[in-house]
Amino acid sequence: MKKIAIMTAGGDCAGLNSVIRAVVMSAVNKGLEVVGVMDGYIGFVERRYRNLTKNDVYDIEKEGGTILGSSNKECPFHYPKKDKKGEYEDRVKDSIEGLREIGVEGMIIIGGDGTLDSARVINEAGMPVIGIPKTIDNDMSASEPTIGFQTAVENSVQAIRKLKSTAYSHRRVIVVEMMGRTSGYLTLYAGFAAGADIILLPEQDYDLDVVCNEVKKIMESGKRYVIVAAAEACKEKGKKETIARIVSDSFEQKRYGGIAAKLSAQIEERTGYESRPMVLGHLQRGGEACTSDILLGARLGNYAVNLLYDNRSGYIVGAKESALVKIRFPKNREPRILDLEDNDICRAARDMGINFGV
Ligand code: F6P
Repeated sequence: MKKIAIMTAGGDCAGLNSVIRAVVMSAVNKGLEVVGVMDGYIGFVERRYRNLTKNDVYDIEKEGGTILGSSNKECPFHYPKKDKKGEYEDRVKDSIEGLREIGVEGMIIIGGDGTLDSARVINEAGMPVIGIPKTIDNDMSASEPTIGFQTAVENSVQAIRKLKSTAYSHRRVIVVEMMGRTSGYLTLYAGFAAGADIILLPEQDYDLDVVCNEVKKIMESGKRYVIVAAAEACKEKGKKETIARIVSDSFEQKRYGGIAAKLSAQIEERTGYESRPMVLGHLQRGGEACTSDILLGARLGNYAVNLLYDNRSGYIVGAKESALVKIRFPKNREPRILDLEDNDICRAARDMGINFGV
């Protein structure tokens, strides 16, 4: 193998640049050339490439986002036809051809479930691929944690700490909405670490009466404020999730959003305590990568290069209990589900009296 390509796709997160740096430096040291595919599957199909040398990746490991750009919508085997709105076509084969024309013999694709599903298709179509899982949602069974999760937890903890001081000053209830789609990992870990009083997760529907009674109990106990950590997809028993928009041509069509505003108004009305909503949103994904994500990204990037160099492909690489592991690309999605009965952070939170709205 003389030349490999690297691509980041799906929602960005911290740690991606550490993977890119590790891939480029490891590959170049083995005598390989590296090409970056720009903007995820858009660049794969539209043939947007850039050569990557060691000089291009110095000092990028801690920078948030991805120097290659990303897109969280496009799918190469269901790609919008030019000038024919609403029609799609399979562009996998001709996109592989584009890379072959410039001498690429293997790819490293970094992304979430949707991205790696397309990576499997590309691998099956004849381009050797190694996939690397990343997502702040931490809901992929291939790696525990996924790249980006730990930085997102840290970002969220810092934000909640800032909210606590203003909540204290004004004797307020602040409902903090956190990303994560249908996975509660980010809300649970950040909420717990930042000392939230109530944690609402998508894995367990909440009872509004329980939440409001808990708010009253806490405020009446003499504490000056309440922090409610609410996952963006959490919902009241018997009600639907709060959807902000549908992105119809996206792998994950639902975009959650709005639960903090809704719940905050309900709490204020029912308890009489002043309440404010705060949506952490994309702030959770951005900014400098924490050291754990830099290390995880570099380890997985290096592992991926070594596998490709040994002519081994068709794997997703990940970390489990501090060891590096690889699994075959699964045919079906294998999400990692947060098991509230089995998770020790959840257990500790419950034992410490943190309320889950039930
Ligand atoms: O999957 C990552 C994620 O950040 C989710 O936590 C969030 O719901 C979603 O992406 C946001 O997507 P977008 O960047 O399209 O708004």
